[in-house]
Amino acid sequence: MKKLLIRSASVATVMSLLTACGIEEHSKDVEFPDNVSVILESEAPEVQEEFSVVTATSLKALAPGLNIGVAVPAGGNSNSILNSPDSKTVIQQYFSQLSAENIMKQTSLQPEQGTFFYDDADALVQYAKDNSLTVHGHVLVWHSQIADWMQDFEGNEAQWITMMEEHATQVATHFEEAGDNDTVTSWDVVNEAFMENGEYRGAKTTTDSADASVWYENIGEKFIPLAFKAARAADPDADLYYNDYNLIWNSDKLGAVIDMVEAMQADGVPIDGVGFQSHISVNSPDISTIKAQFQKVVDIRPKIKLKITELDVRMNNDNNTDFTTLTAARAEEQKDYYHDIVEAYLDIVPEDQRGGITVWGIVDGDSWLQNFPAPTVEWPLLFNDDFTPKPALQGFANALEEADFTPAPETPPFFNTDFETDLDSWGPRGDATVTLDTTEAHSGNNSALVLGRTANWQGISKSVVGLFTAGESYNVSAWVKLSDDASTVTPDMKLTLEINHGAGDGTTEYLEMTTPVTVSAGDWVELTGTYAHTITTVANSANLYVEGNEITVDFYVDDISITPSSPAVEEPVVPAELIADGDFEDGIGSWGPRGDATVTLETTEAHAGNNSALVVGRTANWQGISKSVVGLFTASESYNVSAWVKLSDDASTVTPSMKLTLEINHGEGDGTTEYLEMTTPVTVAAGDWVELTGTYTHTITTVANSANLYVEGSEITVDFYVDDISVKLVQ
Ligand code: G3I
Repeated sequence: MKKLLIRSASVATVMSLLTACGIEEHSKDVEFPDNVSVILESEAPEVQEEFSVVTATSLKALAPGLNIGVAVPAGGNSNSILNSPDSKTVIQQYFSQLSAENIMKQTSLQPEQGTFFYDDADALVQYAKDNSLTVHGHVLVWHSQIADWMQDFEGNEAQWITMMEEHATQVATHFEEAGDNDTVTSWDVVNEAFMENGEYRGAKTTTDSADASVWYENIGEKFIPLAFKAARAADPDADLYYNDYNLIWNSDKLGAVIDMVEAMQADGVPIDGVGFQSHISVNSPDISTIKAQFQKVVDIRPKIKLKITELDVRMNNDNNTDFTTLTAARAEEQKDYYHDIVEAYLDIVPEDQRGGITVWGIVDGDSWLQNFPAPTVEWPLLFNDDFTPKPALQGFANALEEADFTPAPETPPFFNTDFETDLDSWGPRGDATVTLDTTEAHSGNNSALVLGRTANWQGISKSVVGLFTAGESYNVSAWVKLSDDASTVTPDMKLTLEINHGAGDGTTEYLEMTTPVTVSAGDWVELTGTYAHTITTVANSANLYVEGNEITVDFYVDDISITPSSPAVEEPVVPAELIADGDFEDGIGSWGPRGDATVTLETTEAHAGNNSALVVGRTANWQGISKSVVGLFTASESYNVSAWVKLSDDASTVTPSMKLTLEINHGEGDGTTEYLEMTTPVTVAAGDWVELTGTYTHTITTVANSANLYVEGSEITVDFYVDDISVKLVQ
């Protein structure tokens, strides 16, 4: 049955629509074809109520330091925000980050093998840059929305890896900008690699037709770490996310993602965060479930970020199109739910782990949900189709307002001239004339006008002796505009620093602080760059100046600023895993029995991955699984140690006490043997995996004759599995 919903239309309009559809009978009692039902919204028995008033005028201003994002159509899409002044107004007023809804996906960026198409994405990124917005890149590797050539690619595993890495590398490199002024600050590196049951998509463990992924099928699960490594190599300072849907409620799926993240961290693969897409329905999932799911990611160590990447809240449940109109009461429910989700995020996710919150679209009418799972009518977003804010936006804003944000540290420019009061000791360089202009400004009311130059290097200049410190870097910026709007002359312009070494070697240096920009008539243009000061001698004179060639054109200058660039953020050190074969995924490795026990590889039980080790037939308490670790530990260092154990008999009533022990035999030294408890003993009951964990400080300075790490337990009548034995240096 197709439903035809007609909003706010007169009966005459409806009748003409029906005629256009080939339905001839012009009567309200017309029999429509069986597969069509018409709902006239004006006839729906709704009690019209007042929608609650929205007073919030921003979201980003309420959340200093937090990315508040929105996904936007661009490129050839008929709703491209670049052709929509209303969209731009809303974006610039409320949001601080953009995601490309479609145009940065693989099919858009590499439509033919080896042919990359960046025009649309570049235009969007430029718009973001011009308006001080960042971009969350979506997406480098996904099984969906890939070009036919990629879907049908024929090659062996190595060729598939090369092809995948080539795309990730090319794209991430294209959007990487030198210095720390990147517009694309984060990437969804891999999207939707898991199924609902926690298996890899493509593992064919379900009959679901969506269980297909060319990446998993041709490369295996390592396609994920390979993609992250390629992205990091191409863009060292972007945050790299794994992104998926239903993580906000599905524990099996989130558990699999967390296992993957931890395995990547243990192997030193760069991953900075998990993206929760969060396409959800009003009041489902409940807030306690959402909080519990957030907490699981927050607890990962080393810490990673959590980003809500694609939030929308549909009013109808999947496959249920009961609501054909958004009443005030329902809008209020949505407002409360948006509030509660944002509040839950801010409650559970500490500031240093917040990647931000992105809503998947601006106005309801443009949401992908209007066509999913079938054409329907939905109101999942924050704005009505006329760009007025919905109560949902007020809910979002209220939660931000109620939260405590640490104000972002102020980094005011330490050098700034906006010409609002006077020329601020700027003067002419050479024969030029410089005057204060009160009719033109890049910001505020005034600018400086440079006219009557007789040589290229003439312009506007100011002494800056002592301003710069050797070894420091600075972000510099100045805005210029030709005074003749009709000028056909296009000068190259830049900001220059002239250093005169005076008492030193007496030479003068001219340092380009910004690369020259060709300036055309019509608009303000920014001259911007990063300048590293390397001069250690005290200058006799130092002058900053804005200059241009083409001396026949005069120009305005405004907003000249210099800010020390923030020191590079140090990447968290991921402690290396010192036990290479503790997960038993590649076999039993160098582990063996201790005493009379028997140790075998087990492929049906695992704490993570597929395998574990099974310890059976112990004849004494101290027997178990053991490995030689001579030389592994360094005196006075501390180590985080962990091992997971599970009794093999799920019905066992015997509850052994279990621990991880280090046996050191001093051999040539005093010949004694020490047994050091690395974890305190834990009483293990049947049914579930239990972690043995502790911090061990190595105090032994002599070289041991033998050293063995082993997992042991009392109660020799029970057999047990062991998995994920881990030793990491405390950094
Ligand atoms: O641009 C063409 C247009 O020329 C053509 O006439 C029209 C007819 O079908 O299709 C248009 O392309 C559509 C495109 O959106 C732009 O509107 C595609 O068919 C349609 O499949 C595509 O849907 C996008 C969907 O991803 C594709 O999987 C949605 O806009 C987009 O919101 C959605 O976003 C995904 C995220 O990337 C990943 N997470 C889930 C999320 C929602 O599905």
